[in-house]
Amino acid sequence: MTKQETLAMPVGVTLDRFIKRQQSAMPAASGELSQLLRDIALAGKIINREVNRAGLVDITGAFGSQNVQGEDQQKLDVVADIRFLRALKNGGEVCAVITEEEDEITYTDNDNGKYVVAIDPLDGSSNIDVNVSIGTIFSIYRRVTPIGSKATLEDFMQGGRSQVAAGYILYGSSTILVYTTGHGVNVFTYENSLGEFFLSHNEICSPADGSIYSVNEGNYNDFVSAARSYIVNCHLKEYAGRYIGSLVADFHRNLLKGGIYLYPESKKYPQGKLRLLYECYPLAFIAQQAGAASTDGYQDVLDIVPRELHQRSPFYVGSKNMVNDLLLHF
Ligand code: AHG
Ligand code: MN
Ligand code: MN
Repeated sequence: MTKQETLAMPVGVTLDRFIKRQQSAMPAASGELSQLLRDIALAGKIINREVNRAGLVDITGAFGSQNVQGEDQQKLDVVADIRFLRALKNGGEVCAVITEEEDEITYTDNDNGKYVVAIDPLDGSSNIDVNVSIGTIFSIYRRVTPIGSKATLEDFMQGGRSQVAAGYILYGSSTILVYTTGHGVNVFTYENSLGEFFLSHNEICSPADGSIYSVNEGNYNDFVSAARSYIVNCHLKEYAGRYIGSLVADFHRNLLKGGIYLYPESKKYPQGKLRLLYECYPLAFIAQQAGAASTDGYQDVLDIVPRELHQRSPFYVGSKNMVNDLLLHF
C-alpha cells in the first residue's frame, strides 16, 4: 500500500468525536447532555479498570480485609456506585440521581443541573466473583422541576417515553458502551491501550426474529402461566436456551443475534424482579431504538406508569416477532 493510500484509510471514530458530531447536528443543544455522556463514559473506564483488577484485589485481600492502600475492601457494586456518583457530581449537569444502591434520591449539590439520572451501577452482581460479564445501566431525563430548585420525585416519575438518553456498559470479553439519544443505537468498543471507546456498530438494527430464549428456568414452576406456556413453545421450536444471569449481557447478545429475555412475575416476585427505572426503562428504550420490543405482558414497558423509585416490573424484551408471539400467550 502506498503512503497516499494509507493516509486515505478511514480512522476509527472515538466516542468523543461521535458525541460532538451528534451535538453539532442539533444546533439547539447546549452541550450539557454531551458532557454528561462523557462523564458516564469516563466513570465506565474507571469501573472497567476495577473489574479487571477484581481477581487481583482478591489476592491482595487474602492478606487481610484491607487493600494495598490500607483501605477497607469494598464490594465492587459499592465501588461502582461511588465512582458513578462522583463522576455525576463533578460533571455539574446532573442535579439528582437514583441508584440501585441507595433507597432515597442522591443529591449532587448542583441544583442548576438540567438532568436527573437513574442508574444500576453494577448489574449482574452474582457474577462479579466468577469472571463472568457484568454491566452498568443508565437512564437520563431532563428535569421537570425548575432549574435552581431541589429536584423531587416528580423528576424521576416521568415515564419511559420521557427518557432523553439511555445506555449500558458491558464489561465482557471486551468492554463496550451502548447508548441512544432517541436517534438509533450505537455501540462503542473500548480500546484498552488507548483508553478510548471507538464506534464499532453504527445504528444497530436488531433481527426481527430470533431463536434464543433467556430465562432463569429453575423458577419455571413459579412463573405466571403465560410465561410457562411461552417457554413450552420455545422448547417445541427448539430454541437455544442462553442465560448468563447478567441482564445487560443477556440483553446485548439477544439484541445483536435475535432472541428474547424473560423475567416474569412469579410467586417469589409477584411484581417481577427487575427494577423499572434503571433496568427495564433504559433497555426498553434501547430495544425500541434498535427495532426490537419490550412488554410486561400487558403493555409496552415504556408505557408503564411509574409510582415509586425502586418499582419492580415483569420484563420481556427482544426480537419484535418473538415478543409478539409471547403476547399471544397472555
Ligand atoms: P443486580 O446485580 O443489579 O442486582 O441485578 C441482577 C439481575 C439481573 O442482572 C439478572 O438478569 C437477574 O437479576 C438475575 O436474577 P436471577 O438470579 O433471579 O435469575
Ligand atoms: Mn441489575
Ligand atoms: Mn446492580
